[in-house]
Formats: sequence, structure tokens, C-alpha cells
Amino acid sequence: MKKHIIGNWKMNGMQSHLTEIQKIDEIAALFDNIMTGLCVPATLIYSAHKDKKAVIIGAQDCHQSKEGAHTGCLSAAMVKEAGAKMVILGHSERRQDQGENSRLVSQKADAAIDNNITPIICVGESLAQRESGQAEKIVSEQLLASLPSNKPQKMIIAYEPIWAIGTGKIPQMEEVREIHEVIFRLLTQKYGDAANDYPILYGGSMNGENASELLKLAHVDGGLVGGASLTADKFAPILKAAS
Ligand code: G3H
Repeated sequence: MKKHIIGNWKMNGMQSHLTEIQKIDEIAALFDNIMTGLCVPATLIYSAHKDKKAVIIGAQDCHQSKEGAHTGCLSAAMVKEAGAKMVILGHSERRQDQGENSRLVSQKADAAIDNNITPIICVGESLAQRESGQAEKIVSEQLLASLPSNKPQKMIIAYEPIWAIGTGKIPQMEEVREIHEVIFRLLTQKYGDAANDYPILYGGSMNGENASELLKLAHVDGGLVGGASLTADKFAPILKAAS
């Protein structure tokens, strides 16, 4: 499987930043052995995806319903029409800020799949959960409850320990390896051989310095990158490490 390096721009990016996406696209085109993606704010999806050679554009959320009275929300069909090929679901920031739970994430994953968009389902433990030895249990529960109703053709899982997001701290390599193995095992139990087709990404303070060690671990099929995806000069070394 190709390594997947996907940037999550979170609530960053104005029209003036489209030039940076253009630069990232040019760099991504040099690495055709990598699937390079950028999940941008909804306001940028359309302009970001236009005329791109290599980078795949994604959204950061979608609603679980097809349409209706949901002020301020966007359906999977809407982000798809704008140009998104994938959508981040259940990011810990949404689980925390918007109170999203795994059942809702699963419904959103169904909506994404119904519209032919690849869901990127995020799971991860808090520092307190890690320190009390519950990381594996929490991630397993979150994962199983967040999966779509039916076996998907395409799906990406992102393991993001909450305490590693934006902090510059990352877990021990062995801790990352253990959780990725658990995720792979659960996917295999549920989906059989199809589990080999679902990339499992690590996310949380990935950068040009730590990427190559992380990406060498078994079942680490790529990265979901926040801060270091905002500029081409920080993102490029991660692509290089993955190539
Ligand atoms: O979705 C991306 C993650 O939240 C990682 O963010 O690379 O800024 O720590 P970060």
C-alpha cells in the first residue's frame, strides 16, 4: 500500500493561502509513490481542488443526514460536489468541542461512503487514559463504535493520541506500534483480508524530524499532519521521509 500523508489544516487557511496549496501540489507530484492529501476548511475545498496534479483534497467534517434543517452544516454530497474526495470524521477536537460521540461518527461515515467519499475515522486516548493504562481499551472501543455500518470499499483510520496533538510530544515508538497493531487486529477480525486495504495513519506532532521513524513502524501506513502541513517547506520533509 502507498504511504498516505494527509494534512489537516483545521481552522486555518484563507484564499491567500491557495498559493501554498499550489506549492504542496507541485511537491506532491514529485512523490508518486505517496498518496498526498490536504483536508482544508470547507471554504477552500473548491478552489483548492481545481487543477491539481497530485494532491487530493478532503473536507474536515460532514453531516450525517442527506439534507434538511441543519443550519450551518454541510452534507457529504455538498463537500463532494465542492471537490472533496475524503473527509475527516471524529477528530478529537470535534469530539471535544462539538461533543461528537462514536455513534455519530459512524453515522457520518455511512453518509460519506454513500457519497463515495473516503472517511478518515479518528480515534485516540487522552493523557489521563494513557497514564492509567487504558489507551488500548479506549482506542478499541472508540474504533469499533465509530466504524460504518457495512464493510467499506475505502476507509482510513487515524490514531491520534489527544495529548500529542499540537504539543510537540509524541508517544514512545513502541506505544505507537502497539496501538496500530491493535487497530489492525480489530479491523482484520471484522473485515478479514479487506483490512489490508485500510491505511492506518498516525497523527500528533508529526514533523520532518520524527516522520521517518514513525513511518517505519509496522502498520503505520502514513500520517495525519496538522501544524506541519500548513506550509510546503514543513510538509515536504514529511513527504520525503515517507518516500
Ligand atoms: O489531524 C491532525 C492532528 O490533530 C495532528 O495535529 O500535527 O498539529 O499535532 P498536529
